[in-house]
Amino acid sequence: MTVHKIAILVGSLRKDSINRKIARSIASQASERFHSEIVEIGNLPLYNEDIDAAPPAEYRAFREKISGVDGVLFCTPEYNRGLPGVLKNAIDVGSRPYGASVWDKKPAAVVSASPGAIGGFGANHQLRQLCVFLNMPMMQQPEAYLGGITGDKFDADGLLADGPLKDFVGKIAKAFADWVDVIVRARTEIAEDGAHAAKGR
Ligand SMILES: Cc1cc2nc3c(=O)[nH]c(=O)nc-3n(C[C@H](O)[C@H](O)[C@H](O)COP(=O)(O)O)c2cc1C
Repeated sequence: MTVHKIAILVGSLRKDSINRKIARSIASQASERFHSEIVEIGNLPLYNEDIDAAPPAEYRAFREKISGVDGVLFCTPEYNRGLPGVLKNAIDVGSRPYGASVWDKKPAAVVSASPGAIGGFGANHQLRQLCVFLNMPMMQQPEAYLGGITGDKFDADGLLADGPLKDFVGKIAKAFADWVDVIVRARTEIAEDGAHAAKGR
């Protein structure tokens, strides 16, 4: 079984972020299926086309990191029924220069978590909408709007404690690993078919 490389982007900069803990819990439950890294986004200067004329080191490092992965997992809170600015900024940075977006064709999934009842549904779907334009094949199911998430769901290591939520997160991790596998295989087959066709010409 292929072990894929996954970037996890967390839409919260808070030290005690529940979304970061969910991200770590997903990673720990899928370590046999993918190697993941939380890619930090808090250091990225606000996107500005003027400074991108000579891209700062932070932009370059971020783009390089995302270019090198097979898939992207977003774990995000909802801010005012939308996605947090820090995450939108990272997406904007990765989308440029025009025609060289690092997001193109990368399989993705969105998990949103909130202490509130609707689990960040608004942010989750806003992010899904951006991914349509960014041409990121999005895992459709299971949808992951994790509501009622408070500190007591986590153990002393900051990972989800045993229970139904941990089980559900395990299902998300497995489904995402399968999804990345499907998309990566399809892309490889298409590229190989293209190469054979070119040889036969
Ligand atoms: C600016 C701001 C706006 C927020 N808006 C929402 C919201 O629209 N919906 C929601 O469920 N929670 C909202 N919250 C509460 C967050 O869900 C809560 O702070 C959560 O713990 C943030 O995620 P984190 O723990 O990963 O940082 C908001 C919090 C902040 C700071």
